[in-house]
Amino acid sequence: MEFETRAIHAGQEPEAVTGSVNVPIFQTSTYVQDGVGGLRGGHDYARTINPTRTALQECLAALDGGRHGVAFASGMAATSAVLGTFAAGSRVLAINDVYGGTYRLFSKVLEPQGYRFAYADISDPAVVERALAAGVDLVWIETPTNPLLKVVDIAMVAERAHAAGAVVAVDSTFASPYLQTPLALGADVVVHSTTKYIGGHSDVVGGVAVTDDDERAERLRFLQNAIGAVPAPLDCFLTLRGAKTLAVRMREHCRNARRVAEHLERDDVVRDVIWPGLESHPGHAVAARQMRDFGGMVAFRVHGGRAAADALLADTGVWSMGESLGGVESLIEHPGAMTHASLAGSGFEVSDDLIRLSVGIEHVDDLLADLERMLDAARRAASPVRV
Ligand SMILES: Cc1ncc(COP(=O)(O)O)c(C=O)c1O
Repeated sequence: MEFETRAIHAGQEPEAVTGSVNVPIFQTSTYVQDGVGGLRGGHDYARTINPTRTALQECLAALDGGRHGVAFASGMAATSAVLGTFAAGSRVLAINDVYGGTYRLFSKVLEPQGYRFAYADISDPAVVERALAAGVDLVWIETPTNPLLKVVDIAMVAERAHAAGAVVAVDSTFASPYLQTPLALGADVVVHSTTKYIGGHSDVVGGVAVTDDDERAERLRFLQNAIGAVPAPLDCFLTLRGAKTLAVRMREHCRNARRVAEHLERDDVVRDVIWPGLESHPGHAVAARQMRDFGGMVAFRVHGGRAAADALLADTGVWSMGESLGGVESLIEHPGAMTHASLAGSGFEVSDDLIRLSVGIEHVDDLLADLERMLDAARRAASPVRV
């Protein structure tokens, strides 16, 4: 079945009693048993199993082309669980531009427990070879990265990592399963913050890990139950509803992002436009190979530093100033002061002239009109600096 069909039908048989086309919100904490241990369909307790969650897990596994999906209360809970399948003391090699919250988890929670992290630009094969030679148990890829939209060649890293005996996990949140399926490129586990494109409407927080590896899936399910960071039934329902329209939304996100990136490229107050769809992007060829399209996230730098960035962000019109991404509405933010403030002291902080856009699916003319107005504000703030 094609992606669009899987999104609407995988794991979503009409409900048995009434024929409801939507999987109901099974708002229950427990299930009646027919005698001791007489479980109906294996349902004993809702932290362990819930039919709305089961439907979501099956659907998201199908979208990433994997056999097992394990859903969590947030993307960070999914990432923690994947790391939890490795023992303390494990050596992790990560891309040197991870989401700030991922860096915080790695450096402030897991490192004190004995995990060892190294960060490198693993979009470069020579760097990957060198880093793997030091001994690595897990390679943590994020691609495209948040916020610098670096593109990592998943197949290249997976081949080298496997040869060195390492497992490969990919945080594919920025791409969504519609644009990129890392398991097909050789990755062992995929993680999404479903809060973003999969949910798609900025109304629910969640995460998922998808894998083809039976043993790892078993361990993830164990951790899901043992730690208990499970998504609520309503959240599973909302995420599943979002997933149904992922393909159509992503096509619009990508189309609007292209128009926005091209517009930014023509503006003289903009110093640098970062979008994998532009030929100027160093990862363009890899992105064209491993992604269906180039995504809805765009970043750019402005002349005039923080003052110009602040001026630009002072009145954002139809663009909502806020953290997060991947919803139908366009968002704009300052990564250095907002989403990536937790990188402070990491050595790979983002510069304060960087702006990140999550391009939504409003009419592109409205997005461009407000962007133009914001760029004018930045230009006024930047001009004394530039002369
Ligand atoms: C790339 C990436 N991974 C993981 C996360 C964490 O997801 P959540 O906020 O659902 O915990 C985020 C959140 O912004 C993200 O951007």
